[in-house]
Amino acid sequence: MPGTDSELVIATVVGARPQFVKAAVFSRAVQRIAKTGPAIREVLIHTGQHYDASMSDVFFQEMGIPEPDHHLGVSGGTHGEMTGRMLEAIESVLLETSPDRLVIYGDTNSTLSGALAAVKLGIPVAHVEAGLRSFNRAMPEELNRVVADQLSDILFAPTDMAVHNLRREGIVSDRIVRTGDVMYDAMRYYTGRAESESDVLSRLGLEPAGYVLATCHRAENTDDPARLAGIVEGLGRLAASRPVILPVHPRTRGALERHNLLAQAESSLTLIDPVGYLDMVQLEAGAGLIATDSGGVQKEAYFHRVACITMRDETEWVELTGIGVNELVGADADKIATRGAARFGEPIEHQGLYGDGRAAQQMLRELIGRSGLDAGALAEAATVEH
Ligand code: UD1
Ligand code: UDP
Repeated sequence: MPGTDSELVIATVVGARPQFVKAAVFSRAVQRIAKTGPAIREVLIHTGQHYDASMSDVFFQEMGIPEPDHHLGVSGGTHGEMTGRMLEAIESVLLETSPDRLVIYGDTNSTLSGALAAVKLGIPVAHVEAGLRSFNRAMPEELNRVVADQLSDILFAPTDMAVHNLRREGIVSDRIVRTGDVMYDAMRYYTGRAESESDVLSRLGLEPAGYVLATCHRAENTDDPARLAGIVEGLGRLAASRPVILPVHPRTRGALERHNLLAQAESSLTLIDPVGYLDMVQLEAGAGLIATDSGGVQKEAYFHRVACITMRDETEWVELTGIGVNELVGADADKIATRGAARFGEPIEHQGLYGDGRAAQQMLRELIGRSGLDAGALAEAATVEH
């Protein structure tokens, strides 16, 4: 249903796991504000990029994300196929619903397709998690981010470095809003629920601070047999002294099978299916060390004050490596094993690099303020509880 002059209609596009986490806090902020009066409505579009129950449904259920208004059912295929099919399907939803604006999250193919579909229809785009750069153009995510940032008229940058990156690319400062990170908002909001509702530690027989939590799904690691072998070997060596829990992303399960590494991984590591957000929060908070190639999980390690090694050659979250709470170890088995063992249990100080847990509210205030909705709406937006 198209919006009216006195109603702000914000379409949002999600598709992949980290976007559900980001969208959960943004959607919640929209619902809270809408309840207090301002005429604001979200049209939630799920591209279908992630579709297993453990990669999608569980997040909607646990995190109270509204049912998508539109589910496009697009997944798999080459990057071009996936992006092209999403572009066409998102365009037709935008034509039908005529939103005032589109909000996109992160750096996936769903992000890129949403941005392209909207700008071509003259619908302004706001990008949540703008300005992140790995400076590695071989990463599909880097290409998606650079294009999404250029196409967006509001850039919600989570860190000072993200602001700096955008300015360096010539983006004028009134398009950039430094907000803090919605993933920190999510962690703050859901941690209490995770503590009371998740029994994952007892289910897996884990002692707090007695295990390593690992995640691996980046294409550069899964699609390269030598890198994946290095990671399995390195984590396997760490597992000689304490359990290493690896919730296995579907891409990684396929790659372990394809590269004949599944038996080795199963014999040394504790492989489990991907877990929902509440279990993940508990697994992260209880770990003695996190070893990951995920963007989101690197930050969450820091939020939970857990030492992290990152199994990549570079990272976008440079403030964490800068203060020494995270360390790049690549896919090198020796480094993973030795640096992981050295950092296990290391105390980490939280220095509040990612805002105050109200990034989503700040974003909404900004969107409402720039929309022409009345000042009362803006005041309400400012007072919504975390
Ligand atoms: C995508 C994002 C990546 C993000 C990650 C989060 C792109 C280019 N990549 O990577 O930036 O960090 O999501 O997890 O957008 N699959 C399933 N079931 C699912 C989802 C995926 O079986 O629910 C399998 C399919 O075989 C699919 C493969 O995993 O072809 C890869 O999925 P895809 O969405 O293309 O990329 P991700 O590796 O998940
Ligand atoms: N996550 C989860 N269950 C898992 C693995 C990850 O809930 O089994 C959460 C994690 O806590 C974080 C988000 O998914 O909030 C990160 O997604 P992912 O690592 O897939 O993508 P990235 O952040 O690298 O783009």
